[in-house]
Amino acid sequence: MLVQAKYSSKASSVNQIYLVSSKSKIKNFIEDKAVAAHFESKWKEGTITTLDSISGKTILVKIEKLDQPKNKEAVRKAGATIFKQIQSSCKDVIINAENDLAIELFCEGFSLASYSFTKYFTDKSKQKQTLKDVYVASKSADLKRINSIVDATVWSRDLVNEPVSYLTAEKLAEEILKKAENTGLKVEVLTKQKIKSLKMGGLLAVNKGSIDPPTFTIIEWKNKKAVNKKPIVLVGKGVVYDTGGLSLKPTANSMDMMKCDMGGAAAMAGTMMGIAALNLPLHVIALIPATDNRPGGNAYAPGDVITMFNGTTVEVLNTDAEGRMILADALAYSNKYNPELVIDAATLTGAAVRAIGTFASCVMGNAPQKEIDLMIESGMDTYDRVVQLPFWDDYFEEMKSKIADLKNLGGPYAGMITAGKFLEHFTDSPYIHIDIAGPAYLTSEDSYRGTGGTGAGVRLLIDFLTKKANGGK
Ligand code: BES
Ligand code: ZN
Ligand code: ZN
Repeated sequence: MLVQAKYSSKASSVNQIYLVSSKSKIKNFIEDKAVAAHFESKWKEGTITTLDSISGKTILVKIEKLDQPKNKEAVRKAGATIFKQIQSSCKDVIINAENDLAIELFCEGFSLASYSFTKYFTDKSKQKQTLKDVYVASKSADLKRINSIVDATVWSRDLVNEPVSYLTAEKLAEEILKKAENTGLKVEVLTKQKIKSLKMGGLLAVNKGSIDPPTFTIIEWKNKKAVNKKPIVLVGKGVVYDTGGLSLKPTANSMDMMKCDMGGAAAMAGTMMGIAALNLPLHVIALIPATDNRPGGNAYAPGDVITMFNGTTVEVLNTDAEGRMILADALAYSNKYNPELVIDAATLTGAAVRAIGTFASCVMGNAPQKEIDLMIESGMDTYDRVVQLPFWDDYFEEMKSKIADLKNLGGPYAGMITAGKFLEHFTDSPYIHIDIAGPAYLTSEDSYRGTGGTGAGVRLLIDFLTKKANGGK
């Protein structure tokens, strides 16, 4: 059960957490002299020290100077560790710290660690969590910001964790509509008929093997006080399940996690909820093309030539390279908004995972380097990290077809970059591509990221857009 911190001036809990940076400061916080002396004597022993007394728990967390991303991350991780330690042994807890940043980071890790996807358990009593209330002693800590970011992230996780037996493309659109109610976001869902009349050939081709219709969801946040004149457009890959299609994924277990293939869509939808909750002074539009990718009766086939939304013809050489087919149409659609910047997020390639694993996403693009630098900075600040790869035109050569304008398959190397170059062809605006295939979904637990859907991209992009709203800082 998700727990989120609230301010309380007179919280009654006997369970206390103190975040302290030096031994000499312990006594400023802990009134009970014996307890303070206990922690002073244990100061050197590790980051987290717990004292269980008859009346309750007192936990001391050693924090470093919070001027470096990795020290900030250590506080988030301490939040996750302590949540796991105490979740089934107390009902409430109060967090005290030397500064608000420490409280905010700690609460972020603590809340995100409390997320679990329990919808499909029939016996809810199996849940061992007793902890319900988390208080902070500081009135000035920005809990609204942290809680909004956590809400957006866990919603994104829920979407990723939902199997395709529930979350079809239409359901994804419905979930977005429902979540956007009373947020100030405007949502429009284009149905199959409209997608056909718009001639979104890429999205329709991938959808051909499916018995469920595709959707194309447009989410708009337009703050009256927007600091940007031209919108920022976000595009998210919404493949609600990827079997590979006729180019079927080779082994059964390579498909196990493919419900996560709408992780980019979940990241962008989550980001939109986050920026609305934070009321950011921006104009942002998210585009979410969605379908499953299956080898059904009329499935698109290797060798097919598809005419995309912008008229480009694409020779399909592997139906498992479907993400770029649906994203290309959405990127081309974004041109009508004349965006100042287009960003996409997608669980696009196994190559991205092989290159840098699950600790970061691959970022690349033709946007001015200062925009990409800002993205990298947001990645470090949130630890929803990104690593930049080259985006030279040389990589585009591989995407040229002998019988059509482009083909959807590159050579054996640098698949995440050739995929990015394919996508670049479809947008006329400064472009940033984020391949989140590595961190979007974890098969084993990692601190506050948990297992399953992580919400990768949400904290990154909310931070990036917050920086944009503040003039790029
Ligand atoms: N959805 C996959 C990529 C993926 C892999 C996501 C691992 C999450 C974890 C994508 O549609 C895909 O199958 N890509 C192919 C592209 C190839 C055929 C050019 C790949 O990376 O193997
Ligand atoms: Zn695929
Ligand atoms: Zn895919």
